[in-house]
Amino acid sequence: MNIPLKEDLQILIYNYSAVILPSVIAIVVAVLFRWYLKGAERRKGDIPGKLGFPFLGETFSFLAATNSTKGYLKPMADAVGKKSLLTVPLEIHRRIRRLLSDPFSMNSMSKFVPKFDRELCERLKRKENEGKSFKVLDFTMKVAFDGICDMLASITDASTLEQLGSDITAVADAMLSFPIMIPGSRYYKGMKARKRVMETFMTIITKRRNGEEAPDDFLQSMLKRDSHPPNEKLEDEEILDNLLTLIIAGQSTTAAAIMWSVKFLDDNRDVQDRLREEQLSILRNKSAGDLLKYEDLMGMSYGSKVVKETLRMSNVLLWYPRVALEDCSIEGKFKFEN
Ligand code: HEM
Repeated sequence: MNIPLKEDLQILIYNYSAVILPSVIAIVVAVLFRWYLKGAERRKGDIPGKLGFPFLGETFSFLAATNSTKGYLKPMADAVGKKSLLTVPLEIHRRIRRLLSDPFSMNSMSKFVPKFDRELCERLKRKENEGKSFKVLDFTMKVAFDGICDMLASITDASTLEQLGSDITAVADAMLSFPIMIPGSRYYKGMKARKRVMETFMTIITKRRNGEEAPDDFLQSMLKRDSHPPNEKLEDEEILDNLLTLIIAGQSTTAAAIMWSVKFLDDNRDVQDRLREEQLSILRNKSAGDLLKYEDLMGMSYGSKVVKETLRMSNVLLWYPRVALEDCSIEGKFKFEN
């Protein structure tokens, strides 16, 4: 067999360049497409999410999304709303934060401690009776979601919680998506889900304004301000966007923190034993059937260290993208430029 000389090869390539070039491009496109499909397939496997394009990953989605006004990504702002604490400009942020934080005082939160204790014990008892293993994160996501919905707007009806749960998951998924309204896309589904969530919240607000119900919760404390001057109350859009924001901000963070604590306590049995001993000593001072009180939480000094260490080790908000509003540095080592 004759080995072709370098010149022969050059002539060959020159003569057939009209065929070779499109072929090479077609092969590259096919390979990229296969990578992309493989990435999409991973969603069905154990590890959720896709890899995006080779080398580029999800860069295009990310760049398309960074069309934001206040250091947040556009789809994030669209998902939580223009009046959300996460998206409003600084002057409005101060007012909304002040009005929102009132019902988060320790006094109001303390009412929730025995309620949460009972709810959690009942759910764990049910799991124990079922006698089957379960995914901790699925369990904590539901516990956190139901707890926040109850605390904010006394939503406890199972079917409403289920519908809200799947809609709010769709909204949260849209926060890091390509912001384009194509039916079937994550962004599209999230925006449609957001509309349904807003309608559900508005129905609850209307019932309360008509005097049909008046539970003592976060939403009610906002509505009590209806007759206050504009600077001392929240507009309907501000209430709606921030109800949604609080649920999204509070669910996966709390759920992930509990999940990590379960893992770390399994890895560190001595810490687990010491934590259990602190809990049992609180229990020993109670009559049978007594629920936890806010004051009991104050006695959990080791428990609070376990929570802090869990948050330090796991960083439950790792993905959260922010843009520096002005140049700064941390310990002179890490520089952030606007
Ligand atoms: C373990 C649980 C939680 C962790 C680790 C956590 C962490 C954080 C962090 C780091 C921020 C600041 C983000 C930034 O840089 O702007 C933040 C903001 C926020 N979080 Fe949480 N959070 C948790 C639970 C909750 C809960 C339960 C709620 C509500 C029910 C909530 C509501 C919010 C809100 C509204 C903001 C925005 C505050 C503002 O813009 O002024 N978070 N959270």
